[in-house]
Amino acid sequence: MNYRHAFHAGNHADALKHALLVRLARAMQRKEGGFLFVDTHAGRGRYDLEMAGVGDSRARQPEWPSGIGRLWEAKAAPAEVAEYVALVRAFDRRCGNLGAAPRFYPGSPRIAGALARPQDRLELWERHPADAAALAAEFRRERRVSVHAADGYGALRACLPPRERRALVLVDPPYESPQEWSSVTAALEEGLRRLPSATLAAWYPLTDRAGAEGLLASARGLRAPSLAVELVIDPAAQGMRGSGMLVVNPPWKFAGEAESVARYLASELPVAREAISSVRWIVSE
Ligand SMILES: C[S@@+](CC[C@H](N)C(=O)[O-])C[C@H]1O[C@@H](n2cnc3c(N)ncnc32)[C@H](O)[C@@H]1O
Repeated sequence: MNYRHAFHAGNHADALKHALLVRLARAMQRKEGGFLFVDTHAGRGRYDLEMAGVGDSRARQPEWPSGIGRLWEAKAAPAEVAEYVALVRAFDRRCGNLGAAPRFYPGSPRIAGALARPQDRLELWERHPADAAALAAEFRRERRVSVHAADGYGALRACLPPRERRALVLVDPPYESPQEWSSVTAALEEGLRRLPSATLAAWYPLTDRAGAEGLLASARGLRAPSLAVELVIDPAAQGMRGSGMLVVNPPWKFAGEAESVARYLASELPVAREAISSVRWIVSE
């Protein structure tokens, strides 16, 4: 396990993933009843962006300036993105940053935790021992949050169906090995088997087209509607051109909100001249 999210925290992919996560959590909260948020690959929960340029053995180019850094001062963000930026700002301040630039960035557990109501619960899974320990410390005082230092693919079996009968699951692996794509597909299948109404969101990189296309092709075989939201920030890039989120059982109105998020991020985050956003039904409602 070489992947460390700290180097990537707050980049364009986090901006897409986390702005969509805010919309998904808010959609789950349209109903009064509580829901379970499951994060299969949760990370540390909080990132110090000043450390993002310090590599294990070499200096790295921090990635957040071309992600949250560009959104920080943006005035005309649509409401669907503004809530995400406001949440990051509030977190950054609460962690003690007094500077003008962002310093502390919330990972997906902290984003879901900030939105959670008393009736909502969080189950967070992280396999890297140091990150799992940091995550456990982050949430040690919060009773409705459970942290598991274990393989996140076990979360589907362990957590679903939840007593609330409503769940939002984020599957956000590092894609270090080519097998990760089939593990994600298997996780979606298992999630639906255990709770057919679950909303399952799987993040994926747009590097190897075959990987993403394979994932979307397998979504066609699931007995549930699904939507793919993609943001290509650098169409000509050799490496990662952008990223996407496959959302199975997207909540009511989510497609329109995702459209607004992706379109705005494409206007703010291009690397070269143009960025491309798309929202397409893989299996329609
Ligand atoms: C992309 S990061 C997660 C970022 C986090 N979801 C967020 O949005 O803030 C992927 C994380 O998965 C962890 N990881 C890798 N393989 C895992 C596994 N099998 N089970 C649980 N966590 C794993 C890595 O250590 C890393 O922290």
